[in-house]
Amino acid sequence: MVDTRHEYARVADAYLPVALVVFVLVAGAAGYCLLRWRVREGRDLEPSRRHQNAPLEIAYVAGLAIVVAALLTLTLHVEGREDASARQPALRVDVTAAQWTWTFAYPGTGVVQEPPEDRPTTLVVPAGRTVVFAGRSADVIHDFWVPDVRFQRQLFPDHTEHFDLVFAKPGTYQGICAQFCGLEHQNMHFDVRAVSPAAFARWLARRQAAPA
Ligand code: CUA
Repeated sequence: MVDTRHEYARVADAYLPVALVVFVLVAGAAGYCLLRWRVREGRDLEPSRRHQNAPLEIAYVAGLAIVVAALLTLTLHVEGREDASARQPALRVDVTAAQWTWTFAYPGTGVVQEPPEDRPTTLVVPAGRTVVFAGRSADVIHDFWVPDVRFQRQLFPDHTEHFDLVFAKPGTYQGICAQFCGLEHQNMHFDVRAVSPAAFARWLARRQAAPA
């Protein structure tokens, strides 16, 4: 079980100081060069070999390569953890994105959450349990995005994307399509309602007994 929000914070916390240091270095170097070598009257404009510094440039490239390698390793490591399928998922949900609605099916139960008229579809899940999603698009590329859990994944018409998510606390989370997909893209929302596992079991039984 992977807490995507926590994993996101871990990666972001690693990137932020690197980004700040790089910004200060680049801005500082640019400022220094502007002041130090600005054109002054009577000054020789011929490029001079004096200003070439091979060891410094090699060190710069090597430093850059080390930073990139470290950040890539961390990012791919976290991505790998997020992609590892849960061994004992509590639930599987099939997601279908289409212009411009979301449909959530619960395989083996016959329950399907269809988009209601002019309102976002509600995805009901048990809180604190791993949910395994299988996502597809019925037409163009869409993007399943739940900002609160710091997770988004593109959905395609030609293959199924698998991912796990845990909604830690009961509550309502907003879901958004994060890939421009046509005229109504900005209205392509869904709601995630995370409820206690017991309440989820009751909801599922109710929906099976009385299909909407
Ligand atoms: Cu679907 Cu934007």
